Parts: sequence; structure tokens; C-alpha cells
Amino acid sequence: MPRGFFITFEGLDGSGKTTQLRRLATSLTAEGHQVVTLRQPGGTALGDRIRNVLLDSRSEASLGPIDPIAELTLMFADRAQAIAEVIVPALAAGAIVLCDRFTDSSEAYQGGGRQLGSQRVLAMHDAVCGGLQPDLTLLLLPPLEASLARARRRNQRSAQTHGTDENRFERESDEFYRRIYTAYCEIAQRDTGRVVPITQDQGVEDIQRIILDIVQQKLAPLTVTS
Ligand code: TYD
Repeated sequence: MPRGFFITFEGLDGSGKTTQLRRLATSLTAEGHQVVTLRQPGGTALGDRIRNVLLDSRSEASLGPIDPIAELTLMFADRAQAIAEVIVPALAAGAIVLCDRFTDSSEAYQGGGRQLGSQRVLAMHDAVCGGLQPDLTLLLLPPLEASLARARRRNQRSAQTHGTDENRFERESDEFYRRIYTAYCEIAQRDTGRVVPITQDQGVEDIQRIILDIVQQKLAPLTVTS
């Protein structure tokens, strides 16, 4: 493969995308592919610091309210670092990069959820990401209520057992999540060549099989010619 293949996972909190990303990484590695995984925000040392500020619900107690545009800009600062430090070098080395969230998250959460609008987010993507687009985006979009219930259960568990708190987004209202859901649907309708929505609320194994099929179909022509 002359240039690797860039796959992003998208969806609401609790959509199960992180589990699916790990399983896909295991399958692709077993097939002999070089696989690099990362998440956003995070994935670099700088990104982990940014993640801590953005996700910890205690941040605003010490920093004051985080302005939505500051939030958006920090997401892109994280992304710029990840692109330079991890994604571009891995793609250049021919790896398959699996990224847990990318610009679609900013469009859905900040553009939709925080109501900054898609145009502002897409303009920032153009300015910051140097034309980098995922080759494939797997959008896990089970029914909204199921995702929300899972995310809230998980965060309660995490706070109780590890004392960690990544709740700043999960504390938002259902209306906030409804706007994110709508924004994701709009992205999927606009970008049908890149985004594959997976709307079934099936078991983990079933979704895993669906995802592996989609990815293998996309990779097949590339593997033959390389
Ligand atoms: P994460 O743990 O990756 O999400 P999940 O709960 O799905 O595993 O948390 C990332 C949070 O940051 C999530 O609530 C979405 C939010 N986010 C944005 O608002 N904008 C962005 O650009 C990104 C990358 C994430």
C-alpha cells in the first residue's frame, strides 16, 4: 500500500465505537496489517493534556466557563498535533490508522451541539488539517436513547471505581445530544462516499462483523495493487 488507509470512528458517547475500534484493530493486525490507533481528543502528550481540560467536569470549577469557540479551537489544536505527530507519519509508512473521533465530532458536538454551525468547523478543518480527510468513516448511530443510557451508566461506574471524571460532555441535556444526532445524520447524508452509517442496535459481535465486511471491501482493491 503506497499510502496507508485512514479510518475514523464516529458516534455519540456510548455508541460502542471504542469497543468496535479495538476489535477492528485486533482483526486487521491478525490479517498482517500494520495498524495505528489513537483517539481524539488525546493520542499525543499534548493531546492528553488538552483532553484533561476539555473532558473533566471539574475544569470549569477552576477555569470558569469554557467558551464554545475556545472549546472548538482546543479540539483542533489537539487534532493538529495528532496529525503531525501520529497520523501523517503512520499513513506515510503505509499503516492503517484507526482514529476514535475526528473532525466530524467537532462538526456534530461544537457545530451542532454547541450551535456554532457547520461552516465555522469546516473552515477550521480546511485551515488546520491540510486537506486530510478520512478514507472511511464508520458512524455508529444506534437510537439516541440507547446511547445516552449507556454513556451515563459508564461514567457513573468510572467515577466510582477509578475516581476519574470525564463527564463534562455527558452532563449536557438531552436536547444537546439530539442536536448532535441530527448533525451526524446530516454529515452522513452529505458525504455518502466517505461515511457509512451503522444504525442497527445489535450485539457487539454482529456490529463487529458488519464493520469488518465494510473495511475489507474498501481495502481489497488497495491490497491487490500494492
Ligand atoms: P470520548 O471518551 O472519546 O467519547 P466516548 O464517550 O464516545 O468514548 O470523549 C470525547 C468527548 O469529547 C465526547 O463527549 C465528544 C467530545 N468531542 C467534541 O465535543 N468535539 C470533538 O472534536 C471531539 C474529538 C470530541
